[in-house]
Amino acid sequence: MGRFRDPQDPLFRALNSSISFDFRLAPYDIEQSLAHARMLARSGIIGEDDLEALARGLDAVRREIDEDRFDVTDDDEDVHMAIERRVTEIVGPVGGKLHTARSRNDQVATDVAMLVRAHSLQARELLLALMGTFFALAERHLDWPMPGYTHLQRAQPVYLSHHLLAYFWKFRRDLQRFNFCMMATDDLPLGTGALAGVNFDTSRMFVAQQLGFGGIAQNSVDAVSNRDFVLDYLAAAATCATHLSQLGGEIVLWSSQEFGFCELADGFSSGSSLMPQKKNPDAAELLRAKAPRVVGRLVSLHGVLHGLPLTYNKDLQEDKEPLFDAIDTLELCLRVAREMLEGIEFDGGRMAAAASDELVAATDVADLLVRQGVPFREAHGIVGGIVRAAGERGKQLSELTEAELRELADGLDHRSFSELLERGAWIESKVSEGGTSLARVRDQLAQARHVLEEAQV
Ligand code: ARG
Repeated sequence: MGRFRDPQDPLFRALNSSISFDFRLAPYDIEQSLAHARMLARSGIIGEDDLEALARGLDAVRREIDEDRFDVTDDDEDVHMAIERRVTEIVGPVGGKLHTARSRNDQVATDVAMLVRAHSLQARELLLALMGTFFALAERHLDWPMPGYTHLQRAQPVYLSHHLLAYFWKFRRDLQRFNFCMMATDDLPLGTGALAGVNFDTSRMFVAQQLGFGGIAQNSVDAVSNRDFVLDYLAAAATCATHLSQLGGEIVLWSSQEFGFCELADGFSSGSSLMPQKKNPDAAELLRAKAPRVVGRLVSLHGVLHGLPLTYNKDLQEDKEPLFDAIDTLELCLRVAREMLEGIEFDGGRMAAAASDELVAATDVADLLVRQGVPFREAHGIVGGIVRAAGERGKQLSELTEAELRELADGLDHRSFSELLERGAWIESKVSEGGTSLARVRDQLAQARHVLEEAQV
């Protein structure tokens, strides 16, 4: 045990040990060890019989872990030591050859990169499923009008499909961020040793290919100190969790009696223990609340890394708990969001009634004046006057008489004005690219379908 022969202080051990959480890396550690042992044998650094013994030992350990029979001992500081210790117990002293030309520093960086890769792929899949749900909901509610809001004030009406597709594009960008995480984890750290490289002529590219990495890290000092890919995952997760939080927050509002725009399935809400009439949107509330927790994990790791001298420092062990928690939180939230939306019911009547509030046509009335040559700023003021006067007189805009209109906005064509209000044409007039008119929403759906199809291949 090197220079330190005295038993470790239990308090120090409690602080120093990571086995209670890094045991989660075991499947990656075993896979990596197997690839490493194969490379050692191919390069003539260990014998074929050594490889056979190591592979047998690793396989036995894998089975013990799968079957929940693996016993961790007090001396197992982390998962890497535990697995090597157990392999050696099973196959004898040859187990000690596994760590030839490797350090725990490049080993742990490799395990974590493998895990980040696996969960970036998982996030991608969950995001695609969620985007598919938004797509289907948008198709089903293509021409359902609802008020669009700014400052949570009714602003301009949109179709529900358009509003739902907004989330589709947000999650699409999250998907792209997780794609980037795949790139960020593409250079194999293993083989860089403690920090300077190793004393053997190894073949790192062989290991990279075995483990599905595209290439190898070019600089050993960088490789053992690099946790950028963890930051990248956490940043992608934080933004994605924030989108889920916005979705949750909106559904909490929409399912309130005040809005009455939607109802959640019973399986995703709870009753009150006291008030029998209540149906609480707990799932949506928790989606809303989880985001800052994920953002916090990102901030924690930035804290760990900032000012850290190169290369490996024990501080880096603190990358794992934030990462694991962010993964679990995000994946759960993505699953819940999808299930919750699969069972949501929108109330078209309530939404349409709220959208038919004539005041949301104010911009369109101003644009009528603009078409007659009035500068927009001036038109804005004139329509402001009309809205105010209608309010004071207790009238809807469409109830203003021709004479009143002339008094308030001389020159405004009364016929076009009443036609506009009658037809509710103000949704359909949003014909610009990316706007809410039906034709544009159909274009958008075609683009979204294309995104989903592309991602499947
Ligand atoms: N448990 C350690 C970690 O998670 C593994 C690397 C330990 N390396 C060392 N030189 N102590 O970072």
